[in-house]
Amino acid sequence: MTEQHHPGAPLDLGVLGFERGAHLLVRRALHGVPVGGRITVTGGDPALGVHLRAWARREGHGFSAVTGRTATWELARGSAETDRWAGAERAGGPGPDGIVARPPAHWGLAARGALVEAGGPDVRFDVDDRDVVWADLAPRLYAHAAAAQWDPATAVDWDATTDVPAEVEAAVVQVMTYLVENEQAALVVPAGLLARVHPHFREVQQLLAVQAADEARHMDVFTRRALLHGGRMGTSSAGGRSSLATLLAEPDFSLASFLLSVLGEGSFLSLLAFLERHAPDPVTAQITHLARVDEARHVAFGVAHLEHQSGVDPSLRGKLRTAIERRHDALADTAGLNADVFDALVVLAAGAWTPEAIARGHDAVQELHHAMDEGRRQRLARLGFPPDEAAELSALHTRNFM
Ligand SMILES: [Fe+2]
Ligand SMILES: [Fe+2]
Repeated sequence: MTEQHHPGAPLDLGVLGFERGAHLLVRRALHGVPVGGRITVTGGDPALGVHLRAWARREGHGFSAVTGRTATWELARGSAETDRWAGAERAGGPGPDGIVARPPAHWGLAARGALVEAGGPDVRFDVDDRDVVWADLAPRLYAHAAAAQWDPATAVDWDATTDVPAEVEAAVVQVMTYLVENEQAALVVPAGLLARVHPHFREVQQLLAVQAADEARHMDVFTRRALLHGGRMGTSSAGGRSSLATLLAEPDFSLASFLLSVLGEGSFLSLLAFLERHAPDPVTAQITHLARVDEARHVAFGVAHLEHQSGVDPSLRGKLRTAIERRHDALADTAGLNADVFDALVVLAAGAWTPEAIARGHDAVQELHHAMDEGRRQRLARLGFPPDEAAELSALHTRNFM
């Protein structure tokens, strides 16, 4: 690659022909002269003259044979190539500091920072506003998420079994069934959103893609745990599925990630901590711990980009409030949390069937509700809600938790 071709010097192609890449050397030589400038080309390939003429015509360069010399031609550099890139523009810069506020639709799938030829198709990515989608935390969160991926087969000691009483095991199976259902919603929502994000916000797409992969693993380990001792899956309630359906139905990027990540997954942080603490067996403790670490990232991104947005858009809080109220109204006639799940949580925390143990389990579930409420209020405060409004809105959150 160090071979220099001095501008204007004859280019000798040796025996290299156009079928083996001669055009690269010819084009490189032409780049050494300005538009209108000339180079001479010589070579021993019998078809060189024919091929050179055809190539020059296609590329818009002048072509003539040099009289009095064999196998020597002259090319005059045309302007087609420079014309082609005349309307080109850089798609921002490659790093996060090169992100623009509103990447245009015609940048489409071009790499950020690439020189984009004019005239390509418009590709509609409707989430294309930096203030809506971006958080400065996104590149770091993505790197952390990529490094923190774990293998369900090896990260969990599936053989670490303890004797769990049959009715406590049934409670675990019921909770796992409920978790899988919620994980499926938590996968579908970011997967849908990421396909709508302009690829210019690459790190956000990457983060959402890894988030979806996290949920895929959560579905996997919770299903495995449910079936670990040969039982059947538990129940799925109409009220639980209604709650999740309203999550899937929210078309607005900010509102969808608010309801899912800030409120739903935020509440799940408390639930997973509860399950880890009260787990009757090591596998349950391990998988709820692994899932909670992942969920903390999902919540962090949701809070970070909404915090950024609420800083630049004073009307955001009103929209968030409306979204909570609308969802609450839509779910007013549904049962909320599956009663089987509530009972299973009590039994799981009780660990035994004495009145004292059940009372302890019940108290623990009440504490869980308080912890979830407290967490939601703190996150709402991060988004700028005053304490009384944060408390009011937290109380309107779905009883299904997610
Ligand atoms: Fe999850
Ligand atoms: Fe999640």
